[in-house]
Amino acid sequence: MSRLTTFQKWWNNALPHRIHIRRHVPKFLSTCPDPLRGEILELGAGHGWTSRTILETFPHVELTAAEVDVFAGEIFRELQATYGARLKMQQADIRHLPFGDESFHVVIAINTIGYIDDREVKGVLREALRVLRKGGLMGISDITVARMPSFTRRALVEKTLLEEGCELEYVRKGARFSLWARKAGIDVES
Ligand SMILES: C[S@@+](CC[C@H](N)C(=O)[O-])C[C@H]1O[C@@H](n2cnc3c(N)ncnc32)[C@H](O)[C@@H]1O
Repeated sequence: MSRLTTFQKWWNNALPHRIHIRRHVPKFLSTCPDPLRGEILELGAGHGWTSRTILETFPHVELTAAEVDVFAGEIFRELQATYGARLKMQQADIRHLPFGDESFHVVIAINTIGYIDDREVKGVLREALRVLRKGGLMGISDITVARMPSFTRRALVEKTLLEEGCELEYVRKGARFSLWARKAGIDVES
């Protein structure tokens, strides 16, 4: 993981970022091939702007927000006062998630994969798929221009998901790269 610069930390809580998240996240989630439901894991939750949007847009989902940086603890404690048991926060490195296999219906990474070093992208995606239920969806959306200038990175994401047996059900290329990948198999509990 690359450490966040002071600017990145500031930006992730800045008004333009918050406005962008409010506009972009519902649009991205509307492209989800299935109705959003059940237990969702968010990778790299930062200041919780995506988490708030998910919880407000989908009142029936439960969200676990995973974030490595200690600053998030206090922010999420305050958010839990609003969202109660629907929101859990786990301080965790997404390269080694502290969750059991097939724990979540959906795993989402918004503006997070771009923060991972190239050589760690495969491992992060494999780890995300490990905790995703069979037939569950992995959603990724990231700004390619700002943090993923290398189109090889985007290709690496797609290639890894395909190698892991996922089906790519939605891919949007451009300044913002978004995709939904379905993990192979059928969840017997669904
Ligand atoms: C740009 S922020 C995105 C926050 C949120 N998803 C949003 O869109 O508002 C990316 C977050 O990923 C976190 N992150 C980067 N590498 C990580 C890792 N290895 N494990 C957990 N979190 C990580 C960073 O600390 C940062 O808070």
